[in-house]
Parts: sequence; structure tokens; C-alpha cells
Amino acid sequence: MKGGGKFRKVLITGGAGFIGSNLAQRLLAEPETQVRIFDNLSRQGVAHNLTWLQTIAGHNRLEIMEGDVRDADAVKKAVRNVSDIYHLAAQVAVTTSVTDPYTDFQVNALGTFNVLEAARQSGRKPFMLFTSTNKVYGSLDSVGVVVDGMRYRAEDSTFRGVNESEKLDFHSPYGCSKGTADQYVRDYGRIYDLPTVVFRMSCIAGPRQFGNEDQGWVAHFLYHVLSGKPITIYGNGFQVRDILHVHDLVNAMIAVRENIELTHSEIYNLGGGMQRAISIIEMLHAIETETGKSLQLRYSAVRPGDQPLYISDTSKLEHDTGWQASRSLTQTLEAIHAFWRDNRDNITAQYERPLPTAEILEEEVA
Ligand SMILES: NC(=O)c1ccc[n+]([C@@H]2O[C@H](COP(=O)([O-])OP(=O)(O)OC[C@H]3O[C@@H](n4cnc5c(N)ncnc54)[C@H](O)[C@@H]3O)[C@@H](O)[C@H]2O)c1
Repeated sequence: MKGGGKFRKVLITGGAGFIGSNLAQRLLAEPETQVRIFDNLSRQGVAHNLTWLQTIAGHNRLEIMEGDVRDADAVKKAVRNVSDIYHLAAQVAVTTSVTDPYTDFQVNALGTFNVLEAARQSGRKPFMLFTSTNKVYGSLDSVGVVVDGMRYRAEDSTFRGVNESEKLDFHSPYGCSKGTADQYVRDYGRIYDLPTVVFRMSCIAGPRQFGNEDQGWVAHFLYHVLSGKPITIYGNGFQVRDILHVHDLVNAMIAVRENIELTHSEIYNLGGGMQRAISIIEMLHAIETETGKSLQLRYSAVRPGDQPLYISDTSKLEHDTGWQASRSLTQTLEAIHAFWRDNRDNITAQYERPLPTAEILEEEVA
């Protein structure tokens, strides 16, 4: 890619992934933005996202660097000349973090440290957004729940979601590695005056997600129902999650960048919030309606540590940037369904293994 001075150069680590490719699409719609994707393509299916981005990019405004965030020298090269960094590359699954905590730590903690150091040493003070997780809040035992129809709801009728003042309580190796990175990113903002922002995200869904048994449960459920495969529910399925359309997440990413004088070194909880909270069983029935296909459900014992309810309080982000979620849960399902119709062969290639739902519930609280 030629380095024309009129262009704003943006780095997206993990840019081939679900969120990264949606963000890249949005940035490429800005005629004066060049996007550099740095990704090791370790997530199954994401090469397909790159092929798609290449078809829409045009005019050499998309640069793809295949590399690993654990490689400090490669990261330094990726950060060269950029004004903005969206650091999304990660080991994303709680399940994998439990079986291989060393790799999880290396990718999430050391990988993020490498990006921060490259940004600091560049001397350019690039904007940097880090995608952390609600797993940093642990099991949230303080939020009491009662059963309400087919879902849990908070016992406290004034509950409006979990806000950023919730105490940190890293849970699982994934929670620990992301939480470590989260704190480093925040502190590089304070101590080195890097314009950093941390998003603690709950459940993001939408097109271009190659959801699998390790991460991406909404897409994974939808694809399983469309494929006529059975789904196992662990517990009663009343567990509640708040779901945000990736379109709204990308809007939030742009909003914190545009309001950096206020958002500098800040942390924001982000998810669908109270209006987009839904139980697992309610989501499955919504998928049944969306697809017209019957559910084949199996039940098994609830897994230890599975949070009955997680809902983000996004009011701090709304206050600081004016951001608002705009897409409904129905629109989110429709968008994933449309992605399935257009990319069925690519998606089904990833779905040959059966679905252990409990793993999804466990880590998608992240
Ligand atoms: N999707 C969600 O609901 C959710 C929730 C909370 C946090 N997050 C965070 O958002 C970010 C993006 O998640 P996503 O859903 O798009 O996942 P994804 O798996 O689709 O994207 C992650 C990308 O990172 C790449 N990657 C993995 N290890 C790498 C490494 N060592 N070096 C370079 N690239 C590497 C993968 O190939 C993939 O393209 C992650 O940091 C994740 O932890 C996501």
C-alpha cells in the first residue's frame, strides 16, 4: 500500500475476525482511511472475511499483514505510521484458556503488552481501543435473581445492569489474561498519556461471526437450528445475556474515538443492556420463529460458575459520547440469518462437530 499523506492509517489487530472485519468494512467506507489488518488467521473461517474485505476495499486501501501479537518485532512493524489502533486479536475462548492457560496468557496479556509497547515507542501517541470482557467482574454473586416466566431477573427491581464500578474479580484464565491486559491498557493511558479506551463487552452478535462451540453462541445456535442439529441446554435455559449487534458496537468504537478528550483512559461496559437482554430459551424460541425450523433440545445439568444473569449498564458510554444502541434483537437474528444464506458452504464447513452448549454459556458471559 502506498503511504499517501492525506490518508489516516488505522491498524486492526485481529481484523480478520468477526468484530474486526465489521470494523474494517466501516472504516473502508471512509475514503481517506487506510486499514491495516494484522492477524495470524488462527480462528477457523476468518480467511473468508479477508477475501470479502478485499472485494470491497479497492484502491489499495486495505493492507493485510499475517502475523502474531506474541511477536514483538512483527507488532512493531504493524504499528508503524498508524494513528489509530483497534486491538482485537485475542485468544477468545474461556474453554481453551482452561485447557491451555499458557497460550492464553501469551496471546492476551503479553500480546496486548506488545501492542502497548509498540504504540508507546512509536512516539506518535496513537489512539488505542482494547476489547476487554465482562469476565473481569467474575461470577457476580452479589446480583440476586428470581425466576420470571422463562428467564431470570434481578431480585432488586432498581437493577439497571452492571456498571464500571463493579469490583474486579478475574475469573478463569481468560478472565485473568484479559483483565491483566485491560488494566495495562488503562494505565498506559494514564502514565504515558496514550489515548487509550477499554470496552468491557458482554455478548456481541451479527454477520461474519464464525460462532463455534467455544465462542459466538447466538450464531452457533442459529446455524445449528438451520442445519437441523440438536442443541443441549445446560440448566433450565433461563440464564439471561444482553446481546449487542456488531453494527452498534462499531458505532461505539467510532464514538469513543471521536470523543477522545472525554474517553481518554476510560473504561466502558458495553452490551445490549436491559432492552436487549434475553434468556437462552427465549433466544432459541426467537430462532425457531426466525428460521421456521423446529428446535431439537436436550437438557443437562447446569455448569458450575454459569452466571444466571449478566446485563451491561451502558449509561456511562451514552453519557460521554451520545452513543445509543439502535438494532433490535430481531434485526440481529435476521442479519446472522442473511449471512448464513449468503455464505452457507463456508459456514457449514466449520460446523461438523456437535455443540456442547454449556461451554458457550460459560464463556459467552465474557
Ligand atoms: N464476540 C464477543 O461477544 C466478545 C465479547 C467480549 C470480548 N470480545 C473480544 O473482542 C475481540 C474480537 O473478538 P471476535 O468475536 O471478533 O473474535 P474472532 O475470533 O472472530 O476474532 C479474533 C481474531 O484474532 C485473531 N488472532 C487470534 N490470535 C491471534 C494472535 N496470536 N495474533 C494475531 N491474531 C490473532 C484470529 O485469527 C481472529 O481473526 C477479542 O479481543 C475478544 O476477546 C468479544
